[in-house]
Amino acid sequence: GGCPMGGKGGGEVKARSLLGRTNKDWWPDALPVDMLHQHGVSPDPMGEDFDYAEAFNTLDYAALKADLLALMTDSKSWWPADYGHYGPFMIRMAWHAAGTYRVTDGRGGSSSGQQRFEPLNSWPDNGNLDKARRLLWPIKQKYGKHISWADLFILAGNVAIESMGGPTFGFAGGRKDVYASEGDTFWGAEELWVDEGAQTRITEELPELEGPLAAIQMGLIYVNPEGPGGEPDALKSARDMKATFQRMAMNSEETVALTAGGHAFGKAHGAKPPTGFKNPASEAIHQQGLGWLTDSEEIGQGHITTSGIEGAWSNNPTKWTGDYLRLLFKYDYELTQSPAGAKQWTPVNPEPEDMAPDARDPNKRVPTMMTTADMALKMDPEFREIALRFRDDQAALDDAFARAWFKLTHRDMGPKIRYLGPEAPEETLIWQDPVPEGTAPSDAAVTAFKGAVLSSGLTVAQLVKTAWASASTYRRSDHRGGANGARIALAPQKDWAVNEPEQLQQVLAKLNELRGDISLADAIVLAGSAAVEKAARDAGFDISVPFLGGRGDATQEWTDVESFKWMEPQADGFRNYLKTRNPVKTEELLLDRAALLGLSAPEMTVLVGGLRVLGANHADAPEGVLTDRPGQLTNDFFVNLLDNDTFWDLVDASSDEKFIGYDRGGRQEKWRATRTDLIFGSNSQLRATAEVYAENGNEEKFVRDFVRAWVKVMNADRFDVTAKPVSA
Ligand code: HEM
Repeated sequence: GGCPMGGKGGGEVKARSLLGRTNKDWWPDALPVDMLHQHGVSPDPMGEDFDYAEAFNTLDYAALKADLLALMTDSKSWWPADYGHYGPFMIRMAWHAAGTYRVTDGRGGSSSGQQRFEPLNSWPDNGNLDKARRLLWPIKQKYGKHISWADLFILAGNVAIESMGGPTFGFAGGRKDVYASEGDTFWGAEELWVDEGAQTRITEELPELEGPLAAIQMGLIYVNPEGPGGEPDALKSARDMKATFQRMAMNSEETVALTAGGHAFGKAHGAKPPTGFKNPASEAIHQQGLGWLTDSEEIGQGHITTSGIEGAWSNNPTKWTGDYLRLLFKYDYELTQSPAGAKQWTPVNPEPEDMAPDARDPNKRVPTMMTTADMALKMDPEFREIALRFRDDQAALDDAFARAWFKLTHRDMGPKIRYLGPEAPEETLIWQDPVPEGTAPSDAAVTAFKGAVLSSGLTVAQLVKTAWASASTYRRSDHRGGANGARIALAPQKDWAVNEPEQLQQVLAKLNELRGDISLADAIVLAGSAAVEKAARDAGFDISVPFLGGRGDATQEWTDVESFKWMEPQADGFRNYLKTRNPVKTEELLLDRAALLGLSAPEMTVLVGGLRVLGANHADAPEGVLTDRPGQLTNDFFVNLLDNDTFWDLVDASSDEKFIGYDRGGRQEKWRATRTDLIFGSNSQLRATAEVYAENGNEEKFVRDFVRAWVKVMNADRFDVTAKPVSA
């Protein structure tokens, strides 16, 4: 596979592409349905007018839950339920749907139903979950547009827990399905899956997971159950668990609660060596999207292989009990091998009542087991202390599990205001990044404030930069960040290098002095808009920047500093900022940020061109300011970038990050630029877009498009306006 990251271990830094290995690499022969969706054509059969929130709000929620409950014990001969109960299987499906989330870029998770598509539906760690989804199909079909697959996965997990007596904290709907694989998620660059020997991503030499990944090997949700790289070392497994669970903003207590709670249920499947398996995407056409196929007689007898590990964790695998932790600490465990050849741990001399029922024959008892990852809860000192506390206090485990499960399955939905349905919990949780309700300022207050700001001595560049810094943290992956809440004034954002903390403090202090009753969050956006209007006016265009007031101001106490920490931009091409050189090209980081902001290529282009001439560069760097009249909203960036009389060269042969633009004739230095500037002349598609903005007659179009894209970013997180909470 080759190390995608290099560098950290002392080796040579090897660049990788932004998206690493993609579906096209894994399945080159797959039908290229994407070719139908060029030129703005959407693959969504529901159409643009479909409003999922509205459809969900007319769902017969109680009937759906009753149907799901009935499904749990309605065993089908084509995939019989272990112990006559599909509950554990559904919990694993929901956990794997949600568990791909990573806090680093907010991608992954269950919020768009990605488990239905490659690569996730064919990941080795999602083995046999294709059957769980097929079991749900009749229910999905019955309720149709009123319940998305994405919501159904999580609700099925909740009903499963409840049906076995487990605690839940609530359920919120609102995850709208998409109808194609999301192509913007980096899942890794390795060329092998975990079951083919993919390298493990944490080693002594590489102690940190490559960003933004949250799984330890290609094709896993989190860690390898058998231990790091298959080595049955519980302490190293604890290290991997901490590293990966932390990447989804779970602390050790939540990690223990989730694992101990999850493995109260069900069993692992490792009846025989996994030979001849094909994943769903590789199977023959007549298998209709199912993979990992086994002979039906064997399935009937329960001879199933999924992970390769065999056995249940608890003596009561379809009941919510404390038996998992009781057994973990009651017995010594010895290293054994499953019939499929996987390393696992078996209790030494278990009492007959501590044996598990056989999955198909309730009268037969079989030994329980633990995976190496389970043993981590016993062997790692920190995990052990928490696990022992939970063993001795079932109520504490109940509460911790219910809350951690809710967080696991809802954290990629963003603010609580997006939650739908009768079971959405009232309680506000810090990881929801709560923002108190704001009041929109009056038109008079808006006008007065804008006037005051423009004569305050603050520059267009300062105002634009501050508004951009505030709003551009938004990411549509998990709906976090954005201007609402004015968290730019709070730790950790106020101290991020990208935000030029000292200057930021001065600007915020001035805005605070001038804003009166206007919330700081609104004031920041408004001040930025006033600056854009002034810059447009100075360029000869009288345009007003639409303003949507009503943002509130968050508090430090209700800001999850730990999980915001991950959101610090390592690069922001819009501000020509690069903290440290990355394993991917700087212009790819710009693209990534634009994708998280939900921008199109023209929107990204017009914003970069506009922000450069407005002076939004980090630390007022000269690169990309391709104008003689900075502070005016002109299309100069594009005109000068595409000027045939300029040629570009490296500033210094040791780095290809910075460039000088020379006059072709006299070799006079004219401009400075970075990769994120020059990419608009070099990449053919971006160049085509840049040409539009450089053309005579499009000066005003440039201003209008800039304002539209600017407002889109400023309002990206206004769920308080766009969300449709359930009607009474
Ligand atoms: C099953 C590993 C965390 C819930 C399994 C299996 C493995 C595994 C190897 C067996 C799959 C099979 O062969 O059928 C792990 C590891 C974890 C982890 C390494 C993290 C360190 C969790 C969490 C939950 C969970 C957080 C839920 C809160 C389940 C359930 C099953 C299961 C319910 C049983 C599925 C069935 O009976 O079909 N897990 N798991 N696991 N896991 Fe986990």
